[in-house]
Amino acid sequence: MKRLLVTGGAGFIGANFCHYWSATYPADRVVVLDALTYAGNLASIGELVQQQRLRFVHGDICERDRVAGLMREESIDTVVNFAAESHVDRSIEDPQSFLRTNVMGTHALLEAARSAWGPAADRGMRRFHHVSTDEVYGSLSPADPAFTESTPYAPNSPYSASKAAADHIVRAYAHTYGVPCTISNCSNNYGPYQFPEKLLPLCIVNLLEGRPLPIYGDGLQIRDWLHVGDHCRAIDLILRASPVGETWNVGGGSTEPNIRIVEAVCDLVDAAFRRRPDLRQRFPGSAPAQNRSSRSLMQHVRDRPGHDRRYAVDGSKIARLGFVAQTSPAAGFAATVHWYLENERWWRDIVSGAYRDWYARQYAAS
Ligand SMILES: NC(=O)c1ccc[n+]([C@@H]2O[C@H](COP(=O)([O-])OP(=O)(O)OC[C@H]3O[C@@H](n4cnc5c(N)ncnc54)[C@H](O)[C@@H]3O)[C@@H](O)[C@H]2O)c1
Repeated sequence: MKRLLVTGGAGFIGANFCHYWSATYPADRVVVLDALTYAGNLASIGELVQQQRLRFVHGDICERDRVAGLMREESIDTVVNFAAESHVDRSIEDPQSFLRTNVMGTHALLEAARSAWGPAADRGMRRFHHVSTDEVYGSLSPADPAFTESTPYAPNSPYSASKAAADHIVRAYAHTYGVPCTISNCSNNYGPYQFPEKLLPLCIVNLLEGRPLPIYGDGLQIRDWLHVGDHCRAIDLILRASPVGETWNVGGGSTEPNIRIVEAVCDLVDAAFRRRPDLRQRFPGSAPAQNRSSRSLMQHVRDRPGHDRRYAVDGSKIARLGFVAQTSPAAGFAATVHWYLENERWWRDIVSGAYRDWYARQYAAS
């Protein structure tokens, strides 16, 4: 039986991980530590909290002594660090908060683990897993091979630079102090509970509200798309099977330009409207409710400064551990559109709150 501390467990991937873990290992103890920033949403794990299948602690990973106390109190043997500022656009507006949480916060968490776990007596029982991104490797040109675990770091945005710095600190704590760390660098995740500033949920929510679908520049930026359920399985595998000190790239095995993703989402929403007459009543402002194609809402806007052109992940190392992404983009995108249609309350609460102001600032001038 494991005793996990999941930081950032009220965010997108963290919440999915909590659902995955409590369904897969119901006897394990899961404690979530989350500062509930704009991206954290207790509703994403509310059911698990109500059913007492996990404990939620409202707190900041930067509070080293408090985190160490929580780890001792709960006899935590496994930390999975999802807590982060995660949106590149926001890192361009406000790099400071990214350095604070992603760099200093990860450092404070490592110190908390070092203090709570003491000298590495039973390292085999303990694990500090740090969740990072493929963006630390920078941008690929069309002919470059996909990122491997030995691709040199070349981060281009304040977000990816802060994640790269955190990865180096994690590595240094494993090497210098023997903290039993592993790192995973994953590609673009999508799925349920994703905050609607990221591409897929932004498109779905904007479509249903009849708002423009912003396409940065030519929309030909290529990303590797990973269903969040596959990502959770990959982390589980790393926790169970990876030696300490290893780094793992995790991708979905399918690369697509952003504009194709937006087109696919438009077509999935249009198809759902054709099948289900109730959607016209529920979303009267949407294009299909007004007999227009959702693609008519696509709008090219000024590109993000320094926008990376192409990411691609070589997943052959983690494949040797037994990981294969199981969700195809076609099935995963369809399931994600379906989830947002069935969970309107979840995103409507967000859209009518803090996100509205950010959205207005971001796109009003474009
Ligand atoms: N979403 C992706 O596609 C993707 C891809 C690669 C890597 N990642 C990494 O995966 C992790 C999770 O990403 P996500 O998309 O779920 O992010 P998210 O923005 O949806 O969630 C982040 C969570 O961390 C919490 N948090 C922020 N600052 C905190 C602090 N100081 N203390 C405690 N909690 C804090 C927030 O409240 C939120 O619940 C991040 O480390 C991110 O860099 C994400």
